[in-house]
Amino acid sequence: MAPQLDGYFSKVDELSSHFIDRLSKAVAIPSISSEAARRPDVVRMGEWLQTELKALGAEVEMRPLGKQPDHPELDLPPVVLARYGRDKSKRTILVYGHYDDGRMFGRGSTDDKGPVLGWLNAIEAHQKAGVDFPVNLLMCFEGMEEYGSEGLEELIEKEGKGYFADADAVCISDNYWLGTEKPCLTYGLRGCNYYSVEISGPGADLHSGVFGGTAQEPMTDLVRVLGSLVDTHGKIQIPGIMEQVAAVTADEESLYDNISFTMDNLHESLGSKTTIFEDKKPTLMARWRYPSLSVHGVEGAFSAPGAKTVIPAKVIGKFSIRTVPDMDIDQTNECVYKFHTGKWWVASPNHWNFRAAGKAVERVWGVQPDFTREGGSIPVTLTFEQATGKNVLLLPMGSSTDGAHSINEKLDKKNYIEGIKLLGAYLHYVAEEQQI
Ligand code: BES
Ligand code: ZN
Repeated sequence: MAPQLDGYFSKVDELSSHFIDRLSKAVAIPSISSEAARRPDVVRMGEWLQTELKALGAEVEMRPLGKQPDHPELDLPPVVLARYGRDKSKRTILVYGHYDDGRMFGRGSTDDKGPVLGWLNAIEAHQKAGVDFPVNLLMCFEGMEEYGSEGLEELIEKEGKGYFADADAVCISDNYWLGTEKPCLTYGLRGCNYYSVEISGPGADLHSGVFGGTAQEPMTDLVRVLGSLVDTHGKIQIPGIMEQVAAVTADEESLYDNISFTMDNLHESLGSKTTIFEDKKPTLMARWRYPSLSVHGVEGAFSAPGAKTVIPAKVIGKFSIRTVPDMDIDQTNECVYKFHTGKWWVASPNHWNFRAAGKAVERVWGVQPDFTREGGSIPVTLTFEQATGKNVLLLPMGSSTDGAHSINEKLDKKNYIEGIKLLGAYLHYVAEEQQI
């Protein structure tokens, strides 16, 4: 029998302006984890979350994570651990999200404050609708995801059989739909190895009029090094990388045709037609199951507008490789200097956790979700899987056009409100699966 969800759904609609207000408060806090000067805002965001959770009746613990390894003067923002419900007859679902904002400008609406608040809103709507909460919830919300989840791996490993011991499954809402119409459930992510390469020569910056043509220039060498890593078709030029990639199986060949994704979706997200491939299948394969190498920036290079004739004395180039099955981190690192890494993750979508989410998507959105993998990385996904020994599901809220990490990041109202219904409905189907 399908669970009774009408009371819950109509309460979510009734409370929608309150939920939007809650998201606007969260988005107003510029909790940018990569900027040291913003650290007090990240901490304030964690504390705000604690207050909201407590008001909903959750038991909350703020866990300090110590100092930031590459900025020893900075405290890492705390992890917010929370528990809602302790009914032994119910299943327990562990949910993870992050309350920091991405990169320089990201406002965090879709990545990942909207989804994090989705869980809080689901609790509140149940309370106000007088509907019994179908499961126990364990929550783990961190403030450093966009900077590589510093310090969290150790905590998850330690708490796998501690704070998280009761978890029957894990649900992470920190990704996006493939397009704008159809939800998906995600069972794989690429890993991310991040590298920096430092080139120096002269003891100080030089004037190119005086020293150009007589001194070795670090920037010229760096451009050459970065330019040698990947060609203009996205082909990684470092020997020994592609050789590690798992072969395409016959089953996999047919997988991509059925996915609702079009090149138009991609053009819309890019805001241009500058794609490497013309067709859907090689595009999806490049995003999900092949590695890629991206060049991100150069520290120390002149970047202001206008002409300046300096020769920088020292420059640091930054690039990363997204990794896939069966790549080995150490083997991949043999050629390049290791900065920080997170391994790829692929799970089995044939588990009650995915079945429950699939039913919830059908109920809320009226369509069967696509089963997808993703090109992005959430390094702690695999850590949760290994530390709890349970199935992990990725259940996105936002869509492909949200522009996570961009200056105009957004989350559509429909995705937020229906997404709150989806998260709640998923928990009901989890509870129902238990009875079957
Ligand atoms: N929400 C993203 C992860 C993601 C990206 C999922 C694209 C699906 C598609 C997350 O907040 C993120 O950006 N993670 C970083 C991790 C990195 C710092 C190790 C990423 O992927 O760059
Ligand atoms: Zn995210």
